[in-house]
Amino acid sequence: MKKLSPKDNIVVLTGAGISAESGIRTFRDSGGLWENHRIEDIATYSGFRKNPALVWEFYRKRWEQSKIAKPNAAHYALVELEHYFNDSFTLITQNVDGLHTKAGNLSVVEMHGSLNRCYCTSCKHGLSMEEADAKQLIPLCPICGSYLRPDIVWFGEIPISLFEIENSLKKCDVFIIIGTSGVVYPAAGFVMTAKLMGAKTIAINLESPDNLTFLDEFYKGKSGDILPGLVKEWTGIG
Ligand code: OAD
Ligand code: ZN
Repeated sequence: MKKLSPKDNIVVLTGAGISAESGIRTFRDSGGLWENHRIEDIATYSGFRKNPALVWEFYRKRWEQSKIAKPNAAHYALVELEHYFNDSFTLITQNVDGLHTKAGNLSVVEMHGSLNRCYCTSCKHGLSMEEADAKQLIPLCPICGSYLRPDIVWFGEIPISLFEIENSLKKCDVFIIIGTSGVVYPAAGFVMTAKLMGAKTIAINLESPDNLTFLDEFYKGKSGDILPGLVKEWTGIG
């Protein structure tokens, strides 16, 4: 696609695939993150009620991993894109690894929460993992003593900032999807909304995503290889 105007409204949606080249496992590829666990055991509130220590062990490991992970070329390309579009750029991520912020993106909506935070199951007091005594088997709330839980949106829970996301999709001119299988809703349906609102829709993914029919352009391959070149075309910089 040709150069975009800096006045265009750009919305980017990312998923686990963009972090694969930073060494973070995706969910659904072979050898994916869920491999040794049943999703309902570690990614639902009822799984947490049944075995909070197991759930904490799982997310504590992922938090440790995310702390040492480094952004890759695709994350940095999105920083360039934000510099070009400034206020008309919104980055929505399903990822909880914090790599977009680490790379330097400012307008990041973490719709599935963050590995870096937790909150109280009773009084809802929120704190960073550094503040919580995350080394305990099941960390407790410093205010009321109840169990803390990871600040992750589990299956059956409502994603964060849906209203803000809906608004950005309504005025979006170009919608770009990177590294997501397109099977988990509501994120998988954003492309439909964007398309209905008249946006151009573009995806970059290692495999064909489930929502391929709603795409105007599809680039098959690794986002770290493909995205930096596309960003140069879109911005005319570099
Ligand atoms: P998935 O694991 O479902 O999909 C990752 C996608 O990235 C796959 O389609 C891969 O083909 C693709 N991929 C892998 N490596 C890539 C690379 N280097 N470059 C580009 N694409 C690559 O992950 P998500 O779609 O993010 O939710 O999963 C959505 C949600 O399901 C997650 O946020 C998580 C999970 O349940 C929660 O934990 C709340
Ligand atoms: Zn509390």
